[in-house]
Amino acid sequence: MQSWTPESWRARPAAQQPDWPDGHALEQALKQLSTLPPLVFAGEAAGLRRALAQVSAGEAFVLQAGDCAESFADFAADTIRDKLKVILQMAVVLTYAGGVPVVKLGRIAGQFAKPRSSPTEVVDGVELPVFRGHIVNDDAPSPAGRVPDPRRLVRAYHQSAATLNLLRAFTKGGYADLSQVHTWNQEFVASSPGGRRYAAVADEIERALRFMRACGINLGDENDLHQVDFWTSHEALILGYEEALTRRDSLSGDWYDCSAHLLWVGERTRQLDGAHVEFLSGVANPVAAKIGPTATPEELVALCDRLDPDRQPGRLTLVSRMGAEQVSTLLPPLLSAVERSGHPVVWTCDPMHGNTFTGPGGRKTRHFEHVIAEISGFFDACRSVGTWPGGVHVELTGDNVTECLGGSEAIGEDDLELRYTTTCDPRLNGRQSLDLAFRVAELLRR
Ligand code: PEP
Ligand code: CO
Repeated sequence: MQSWTPESWRARPAAQQPDWPDGHALEQALKQLSTLPPLVFAGEAAGLRRALAQVSAGEAFVLQAGDCAESFADFAADTIRDKLKVILQMAVVLTYAGGVPVVKLGRIAGQFAKPRSSPTEVVDGVELPVFRGHIVNDDAPSPAGRVPDPRRLVRAYHQSAATLNLLRAFTKGGYADLSQVHTWNQEFVASSPGGRRYAAVADEIERALRFMRACGINLGDENDLHQVDFWTSHEALILGYEEALTRRDSLSGDWYDCSAHLLWVGERTRQLDGAHVEFLSGVANPVAAKIGPTATPEELVALCDRLDPDRQPGRLTLVSRMGAEQVSTLLPPLLSAVERSGHPVVWTCDPMHGNTFTGPGGRKTRHFEHVIAEISGFFDACRSVGTWPGGVHVELTGDNVTECLGGSEAIGEDDLELRYTTTCDPRLNGRQSLDLAFRVAELLRR
């Protein structure tokens, strides 16, 4: 910690970094980024840390959700709005039916970089560099498009800024007002069983608001009814980009990575002595780490010591992603070890990344019931050791895609071809996301 600087990660092995062919262009891009305004402020990141501290105390629940990878091609107001709609709907369900305040955290406005299991892939007999997210290269399988291009770093910054601007307008400018609760139900969602169940909840909320008004309560003064706090997060993968957006807070003197409110290290970059953990150890933002099946209790406690040496509530979130079959055996010893260590972490469940498989048509997919099974196993594991199940972390879109199997509309393998538009992992569609929220609310109520 003594020797931490925004660039101290450079002395450590950095996994998953692109092979930028043009060093000069990279330097230019990073220099430009370092002069551009921060996307979020230190005070906001500290606000999220306080919200997460409530989760670590068992008083709130986190909903972290958004794309696997945001796309330069699919960048429009409607897609952002529809993603926000489904997250707001899910949060209403969790708050109303689950009975807990919900911290709303998007995988959005910066979620562009992807860790990959292999540096190359073979497409139609040609070996190409693998797609690493639009912040690095193009998903189209052409040799030219797959060359890492540093200008993409700057483009990702600008798209993040525009996305965040719209999110701020939507969430603070009336769109997230609780009186709008019915308008978040998109047509293709509203016609589903989950959508009808949601409409009933929305009716009850409207009735409760009318009741309070009739009692003489001036709802106009209640800020929390008219706007929501919506936080941003992404995987801190491309460390040059994160370094360039790291700024010193003039009030506290602390360093904050101002590219998002929360940053996380992934399953492939959480090495204790690696560059990613070094970088996150020194920024004052709330941070998270994905924890997969290979993690040992000792290693995990060492990671907690490294990322949360001051045992600060809200500082560290651990995201379990074990897979539905392994969660009940692998997770309890990890939960117990962290309980014993005294780190006041938030535990959440990513039920997506341990349940991915390739269907017969060659499409990567996930089954809705496996996703639910992992969340359910996570809740059981947490309860067995007395840890608060603090949230879920899911990949979703508001669009009517057919990328994950199952759910109330029973998407089958033949349907995957219909509307499979993700550039990386398969996402839950709007209906499946709402169904998931109802299932999680039931688990919370138990
Ligand atoms: C992701 O969140 O998109 C991801 C790659 O997750 P993990 O690091 O858990 O595999
Ligand atoms: Co993913």
